[in-house]
Amino acid sequence: MNDDRTADPERRGVLVWLTRGFLALWAPAAAGVTTTFLKAPSAEERPGERQLKVGSLSSLAVGDARFVRHGTEPVYVLRVGETEVLALSAICTHMRCVLKWDREKELFHCPCHDGVFDRQGNVLSGPPKKPLRHYRADVRADEIVVHT
Ligand code: FES
Repeated sequence: MNDDRTADPERRGVLVWLTRGFLALWAPAAAGVTTTFLKAPSAEERPGERQLKVGSLSSLAVGDARFVRHGTEPVYVLRVGETEVLALSAICTHMRCVLKWDREKELFHCPCHDGVFDRQGNVLSGPPKKPLRHYRADVRADEIVVHT
């Protein structure tokens, strides 16, 4: 005769212990996954965004621009204040020629068809119809970072 009634409390105790152990391990993991899923990306990181370190702020004079090679989309980084920088596409919006920065006049000149953009990337003259693309840029411990 099988005496299940005497074994039941022991089995039940083991099952309760295993269930509690499983929940004790599973609950924090589930909470971590949920928190990560619901958390908004920080201002510094966005999905699919790349961060380019483009040199020190102190080596770029106020009012000057630095040309940064970046694949087929080179970028100009302009220092517009003590701690402020702008990052603009160095590609003309007319027919994709590479722009030149004119420090004296503080504007971008396109050598192909005389397109001219101001330092904010707005079209001043010539055939381009669209302004230059802006990139997010910031300064971290004297390092200029452009987000592409
Ligand atoms: S390509 Fe720049 S003005 Fe035509």
